[in-house]
Amino acid sequence: MTQSLRASGAGDPRASGATPLVDMRDICISFGGVHAVDHVSVDLHPGEVVGLLGHNGAGKSTLIKILSGAYGADSGEIFINGERAEINNPRDARAYNIETIYQTLALADNLDAASNLFLGRELVTPLGLVDDAAMEAETRRIMARLNPNFHKFSDPVSALSGGQRQAVAIARAVYFDARILIMDEPTAALGPHETRMVAELIGQLKADGIGIFLISHDIHDVMQLCDRASVMKNGKLVGTVDVADVTDDDLLSMIILGKQPGSDAG
Ligand SMILES: Nc1ncnc2c1ncn2[C@@H]1O[C@H](COP(=O)(O)OP(=O)(O)OP(=O)(O)O)[C@@H](O)[C@H]1O
Ligand SMILES: [Mg+2]
Repeated sequence: MTQSLRASGAGDPRASGATPLVDMRDICISFGGVHAVDHVSVDLHPGEVVGLLGHNGAGKSTLIKILSGAYGADSGEIFINGERAEINNPRDARAYNIETIYQTLALADNLDAASNLFLGRELVTPLGLVDDAAMEAETRRIMARLNPNFHKFSDPVSALSGGQRQAVAIARAVYFDARILIMDEPTAALGPHETRMVAELIGQLKADGIGIFLISHDIHDVMQLCDRASVMKNGKLVGTVDVADVTDDDLLSMIILGKQPGSDAG
């Protein structure tokens, strides 16, 4: 495999040495004797999608749960916009505009899009009543930007397709000012059309300067959607590559063999 040396484009935030949105440095966490995350460093810039790849049990979800405040790291540091961040719980993460979209999406199936968007954070009238009209208007406004083909505002979300449900979950994160978005397997179980829709949504978010960590098992999706990919194996970081510089096979060998492309016997 040849490895092209792509010059960083003018639009590449890393070319100018810009401060990363997220910089996780030397993160460690163990459960019992298991080093689930072992001295891992990853970073993320505004408008960038960084894929997190690796086999089952590699440590991807654990790493990202440290960023979302679900777990506290045993050691290591997190910088947000260049400043040391203390993230001890999900509320702290939210204060740093970090939002997580879990694979399950955490939607209430029997409620419509607007009710889901504002679940637990409902808009109220001056009299303190839930303001359904305002919530629907806000939902229409944000969907018009994110996903103009979305029209199912009165259906329960159980009646929506996988991609539409994903759009509702993304709208919720964006409405509440996500600057850093964590997506765990956003295209798993989606058909090609739906996957394309999610890809378009991700394109919108990038254009808005949101940084995205995208966990995926699908190398094809990573090649399509990500700017860089960080590969983990047995809790350790194998390496981080520019997606434009590698082939599917390079990523596969990083995942399976734990080898950087270009290293011997590659
Ligand atoms: N709460 C926990 N208690 C004990 N061990 C854990 C816990 N969470 C994760 N682990 C262990 O840490 C390691 C990494 O798990 P993690 O869920 O981060 O992997 P992953 O890369 O997300 O895998 P998958 O692709 O299957 O989602 C595994 O060995 C797992 O068993
Ligand atoms: Mg996982």
